[in-house]
Formats: sequence, C-alpha cells, structure tokens
Amino acid sequence: MAAGLGTRMKSDTPKVLHKVAGRPLLHWVVTAARAAGAGKIVAILGHKSELVKVALDASFGVDAIGIAIQAEQRGTGHAVQCALPAVANEPDDRIVVILTGDAPLLRSERIAELARACQESPAGMALLSTVPPRPMPYGRLVREDGKLTRIVEHSDATPEQKLIADTNAGFYAIRLGHLRKDLDTLRADNAKGELYLTDLVSHAGARGGATAIDAPFTEVSGINDRVDLAWVETEARKRINDAWMREGVTMVDPATTYIDAEVGPIGKDVWIGPNVALRGKTSIADGVRIDLGSVITDVTVAEHTNIKPHTIMTESTIGARVQLGPFSHCRPGTRLDEDVHLGNFVETKKAHLMAGAKANHLSYLGDASVGAKSNIGAGTITCNYDGVGKYKTTIEAGAFIGSNATLVAPVTIGRDAYTAAGSTVTKDVPRGALAISRPMQVNREGWADRFREVQDKRKKPDGT
Ligand code: UD1
Ligand code: CA
Repeated sequence: MAAGLGTRMKSDTPKVLHKVAGRPLLHWVVTAARAAGAGKIVAILGHKSELVKVALDASFGVDAIGIAIQAEQRGTGHAVQCALPAVANEPDDRIVVILTGDAPLLRSERIAELARACQESPAGMALLSTVPPRPMPYGRLVREDGKLTRIVEHSDATPEQKLIADTNAGFYAIRLGHLRKDLDTLRADNAKGELYLTDLVSHAGARGGATAIDAPFTEVSGINDRVDLAWVETEARKRINDAWMREGVTMVDPATTYIDAEVGPIGKDVWIGPNVALRGKTSIADGVRIDLGSVITDVTVAEHTNIKPHTIMTESTIGARVQLGPFSHCRPGTRLDEDVHLGNFVETKKAHLMAGAKANHLSYLGDASVGAKSNIGAGTITCNYDGVGKYKTTIEAGAFIGSNATLVAPVTIGRDAYTAAGSTVTKDVPRGALAISRPMQVNREGWADRFREVQDKRKKPDGT
C-alpha cells in the first residue's frame, strides 16, 4: 500500500520515494518481499503514481512489479479492493501478504513468518502486532477469551480501549478467498469515514480468530514526517553497519559511517575511518583502507588500496594497491590501474592512469590517457577544453612531465619523453625527446650586487 498522500512530509516528492540509506522507502519493502519469496508483487499507487512507477521500473526492471491504481484515497480497505483485479487469476487458497509501503525496516524473515502463520491459521489470517514505546494513534487489538476478535482504530476507540498495549502494526497475511469475500462487506461507518482494512479482522474473529505475531516497534514503525525519516535512517544505518562489521569490516566509529543499502560487496579486513560515506553501487575489495572524511559514490575499489583522508570519488574504477589522497578528487570516468599514486589536490575526469603512474601534487588530468610508470609533475594541467570541444591528452608509458606543465590537447607525449618544467606543450613530443617551451634562462653576473649598491646610495642618513 503506497497510495497515501504523505501530507506531513511537506514535500513535492511522494512519501514512498523519500530515501533511507540511499534507497526509496517503497524499494525497501519490495526488496524485503522479494527476499521473503513473494511470487507476485503489486504496488498500490495513487499520489504521483507515474513518478513511483518510473522509480520501480528503474530499480526492479520494467513491469517487474504489478501496479494497481487507487485514484482516490478512501482508506486501506479501499486500497486493497483496488488491487484485487491485479490478482484476478490467482486461486482462492493463495496467501496474500499486505504491507505498508512506508515502513522500510520490516525484515524479510518477518514477512515469511507472517505468511507461515497465515498458512497454519484455521481462520486463514495473521497480522503483526507491536507495543509502541510511546503513545501512538494505532489500532488496538481487542481480544475476547484470549481470541483476537477485532481491531478498533485509535479515533474510534473508547478511553478503556486506548489503554490496550497491543497495537496493529499494519502488516497482514490472508487467504485470497477470504479477502475477496470479506472486502465486499467493508462500510465507511467510522470516525474517519474510510473503508478500514482492519475490519477484516472481525471476520477472521468469527472463523476462530486471526493469529497475531508480536514484532519489535523499531522494525514495523512507519514514516509520517521527516523526524520519523531521520530516526529510521539511524536505525537502518546501524543495521547495515552491524551486518558489514560481522562480515569482517572494521569501523572506527559506526555512528558516523554512512553506507548505502545498495553498496557491496565490502571485503574482509577493510578499515573505515570516521565520517566516511559509501554511496550508490560502490564495492570495496579485501584489505582496503578508507580514511576520514572520504565520500565514495558508484566506485569499484580493488584490494589493498589505501584511500587517505578527504578523498572524493564518483563513478570511477580503482585498481589494487593504489595510493590516493589526502584530498584527491576522482570525477566520473576515472580509471586507475594497480599501484597508481594520486596525491593531494589532484583532480581527474575521464582519465586512465596505467599501472604505476604517479601524479602526486596539484594537478588536473581530464580526458587523458596516462601510460604505465609515467610521472606527472606537480601542477601539471591538461588543457582539455577550448570553450567549445573537449580534446584528449595522451601521455605514453615512462614519460616524465616536469612541474607546472600545461599540456594543450589534443597532444601526445611519446614514450619515455620528457617535458621541461614550466613548459606549455602544444605539439606532439616524439618518443624519447625533451620538449621545452619557455624562454631560455639568462644569468647576468654581479647584477644583484650592483643593484643593491645603487639602492643604498639613494637612502637618507636615517635609513629610510
Ligand atoms: C493503519 C491501520 C492501523 C495501524 C496503522 C499502523 C487501518 C484502518 N488502520 O492506520 O490500525 O495501527 O496503520 O501504521 O488500516 N494507504 C493507501 N490508501 C489509502 C489509505 C492508506 O494506500 O486510502 C496506505 C498509506 O499510503 C500507508 C498505509 O496505507 O502506506 C497506511 O495508511 P495510514 O493512513 O498511515 O493508516 P493509519 O491511519 O496510520
Ligand atoms: Ca500511518
């Protein structure tokens, strides 16, 4: 169920597309349902349904998730009524699990447990209950002679019923045959004037009572506003970090380690300093060290690479035993082969540095191919853009680029060639040559001594 407006988010984005650990709320629920073995998944959409469908298609494949549209939000019972046509061909003994689209922390094991409880329930229905740590406007579970006979919504409950500790978490499993029959009987004769899905529980009550499974509040709690969102984010982060630490990852400070849900694998003996963020589809091989303040998005890092503090990388591929940072910046299309060194204030974009190449200080390498074991001096700039087009710089293996070079692309520096420090290189440099493009140095013997003598004579007696 994901048709609700989410008014309290105060957002242009539909509530279920807000993200927790980089993954939309609804995608958490779909991912858990899939992991629990769901045969067919139907998303009930309403508010901005087109946007939500696009997001589902992008992540799970086009039309992998069925869509039911609830154009007008007339309650949770009405939402499920809108989804019935999507399961029209399924037999009556099928178990339907109904999940709330805005509760991302529900575990797949819990969904499987819920489906099993329904399978075993003579009433053909099970649901998750929870005891909230603070008063919540949740439906209360009413029991008679120990039998769950109905749910009374918070806004319809008497003061005595509001004292009931067991509340409805909003997750259900029910035989499709019962669902088809019982949904027809729902009436909007309640405080909210809605069709309550929870009224199905009284039908199950007549069949012997639905089974309630108690779940921890942290797992079932839904998101209504951005305060809830931040709280769930913290819980999700803890869950993700705990899982990686159990896989052999060291985190100096898990409270400030931010790993998106889609990140992985992360190898064993990976070491992560404080304030590190791993985002998107990033993967990290064994023995990699990622120090303080690094932000790594959609990057593959091979084993034993050392990422020093404050290194920023996006859409890049990093080889084994690479040394990066502090303060390196790899922009999209960077490829560093094994044993490359990239030092402080070096920026790369669409650049391929081959094995053992070094650019240790203050450089910009864009649209560049940098051969194996070449050395890029401090302050080297590839001039790849003339205001209209982008052009490529090729530096062949073993080349030595002197400090403060400007390489005006398109240009090729041949194998094992040198460029003199301070040169502006506009023409290709042949293999093994030295390119020098700066006025030659002139030394004027004794000039400084003569200059000072003249200056001293001009001074007044008081020295000014
Ligand atoms: C519901 C339950 C309540 C339970 C609580 C737990 C009912 C009648 N009540 O209350 O017993 O304690 O969840 O969070 O079900 N939705 C639609 N279409 C609608 C209405 C809602 O798709 O017409 C979706 C919402 O997007 C949301 C979910 O259903 O994902 C729950 O709706 P919400 O309005 O939050 O239900 P509550 O009133 O909180
Ligand atoms: Ca709610």
